[in-house]
Amino acid sequence: MASTISSSLNCPTSSSSSYSRTTPASRSCLHSLSFPPKPFPLPKKISLRNVVNTHDGAVAATATPPENVSSLEELKDELLSITASLEEDVRFDIKEKEDTVSITVVGASGDLAKKKIFPALFALYYEDCLPKHFTVFGYARSKMTDAELRVMISRTLTCRIDKSENCGEKMEQFLGRCFYHSGQYDSDEGFAELDTKLKVHEVGRVSNRLFYLSIPPNIFIDAVRCASTSASSANGWTRVIVEKPFGRDSESSAALTRDLKQYLVEDQIFRIDHYLGKELVENLSVLRFSNLIFEPLWSRQYIRNVQFIFSENFGTEGRGGYFDNYGIIRDIMQNHLLQILALFAMETPVSLDAEDIRNEKVKVLRSMKPLQLDDVVVGQYKGHTEGGVTYPAYTDDKTVPKGSLTPTFAAAALFINNARWDGVPFLMKAGKALGSKRAEIRVQFRHVPGNLFKTKLGPDHDRSTNELVIRVQPDEAIYLKINNKVPGLSMRLDRSNLNLHYAARYSKEIPDAYERLLLDAIGGERRLFIRSDELDAAWALFTPLLKELEEKKVEPELYLYGSEGPVKAHHLAYRYKVQWGDSDNEHR
Ligand code: BG6
Repeated sequence: MASTISSSLNCPTSSSSSYSRTTPASRSCLHSLSFPPKPFPLPKKISLRNVVNTHDGAVAATATPPENVSSLEELKDELLSITASLEEDVRFDIKEKEDTVSITVVGASGDLAKKKIFPALFALYYEDCLPKHFTVFGYARSKMTDAELRVMISRTLTCRIDKSENCGEKMEQFLGRCFYHSGQYDSDEGFAELDTKLKVHEVGRVSNRLFYLSIPPNIFIDAVRCASTSASSANGWTRVIVEKPFGRDSESSAALTRDLKQYLVEDQIFRIDHYLGKELVENLSVLRFSNLIFEPLWSRQYIRNVQFIFSENFGTEGRGGYFDNYGIIRDIMQNHLLQILALFAMETPVSLDAEDIRNEKVKVLRSMKPLQLDDVVVGQYKGHTEGGVTYPAYTDDKTVPKGSLTPTFAAAALFINNARWDGVPFLMKAGKALGSKRAEIRVQFRHVPGNLFKTKLGPDHDRSTNELVIRVQPDEAIYLKINNKVPGLSMRLDRSNLNLHYAARYSKEIPDAYERLLLDAIGGERRLFIRSDELDAAWALFTPLLKELEEKKVEPELYLYGSEGPVKAHHLAYRYKVQWGDSDNEHR
């Protein structure tokens, strides 16, 4: 019979910690679900069924004890040695001792690089998650010395609140591994010079190269061409991380994929959607597939509707030039929210292997009912003055053309035409310059049939049905709204939250999404990256709608900066008998 084994040598008695063990930092760097990207060899003596990395880096596994392993202690030792070798072999698909990884941030002086990529790389270094031999190169057009790059990067590096030991020292060491090369994005010569510099650092070792393209889409292909022809690794792997936008519609996205594939094979392309790297999005599959109580309820039989909500309490400030060409549907819905929807709604994958998961996500996307204009509301924020503060309109942004109809808010009702979800509204709402900053998934369950307490629940039965909220950010939490009796002699009902509040439960700071994604790209783990057929399916869903909105010049409903957004979003929800879960302060 299979038994579950903890890697803890001295199992504590508390049940909550019996699977955990404080481990060296490096243990927390295994791939997010700690499943190897490739099958790994196991000693003949033992067969691992399942390996799970617990929150603090400990490893728990389900194993079938072989006949010749007599005691539990032996089995534990065996498991520990396997997990240790698993770390060595699997943390990166490189050999630690002989290989090197060079990470080139193309577009090094841009905002994303400064705010996210370099800090994420430093956090990985600090946590001892980067390979022993690594180098970081910045590549951009601006003239800069290595020293100037280091000063620029150092301004945005921070240490985790819970780990600041030797922070300054670690920063110095990390900065010492950072270098800069100035060149044009379409210059073979520039990339060939970079190649020469990379070789100096890689000397004598197998070189693996990761290029992070943090540049505007119109220069993607030039940079990929130059990187692949003039700066590819000669004896290791070469991978390229690309940031959205992956086109503006089906046609331009297909053209981009086609052009990328002139120089790279699909396995070398890591299309990043940073929402997939967020802790609670990553946890979605764990919640569904490792708890008995959720999966049986995960269907049209018990779920009334699902809501995916994204809101920001600031406008496009300074990004209007980019944003006006894309709008909120392309910026947030077609990628971040749709990716979460696909993970939420997919069938159980055959395994946690990247291809198995992505196969299931594609099936969801391809089963979606074409989006009708009727099922979409668009809005744009307008300025106003309140309490002496003036809030700008979207069109006040100097980089936005006057009279722009680009939506800064959108709400949509989507449906999945499959046996599990037929008829269940999946509502999405995304907006800038709203009243709060949040991203969450809300699952509203059906009413209890023949509810004995119906008369005690008040007139609004929708409000008293169970609701599961997965708050992706800020202040990560998963809570379930339930009805309970108010203590006392009378029979009064109340709504309460069963609450997993991350800050209260875990003292560890939650890593930034980019850390997880960079680590996965270095490790060759593709599960959290978008495959080209996923991208095609996502565009196939939104392209006809986007074209119709643009051809018909649909006017967005204006809403006040800092408000809840357009009233029509409520009308859309009511049409499907849904109330937005975030719109009632008292019940949030
Ligand atoms: C980006 C969008 O993909 O995500 C931005 O282009 C948006 O418009 C950002 O502000 C939100 O990311 P996060 O991680 O801050 O929620």
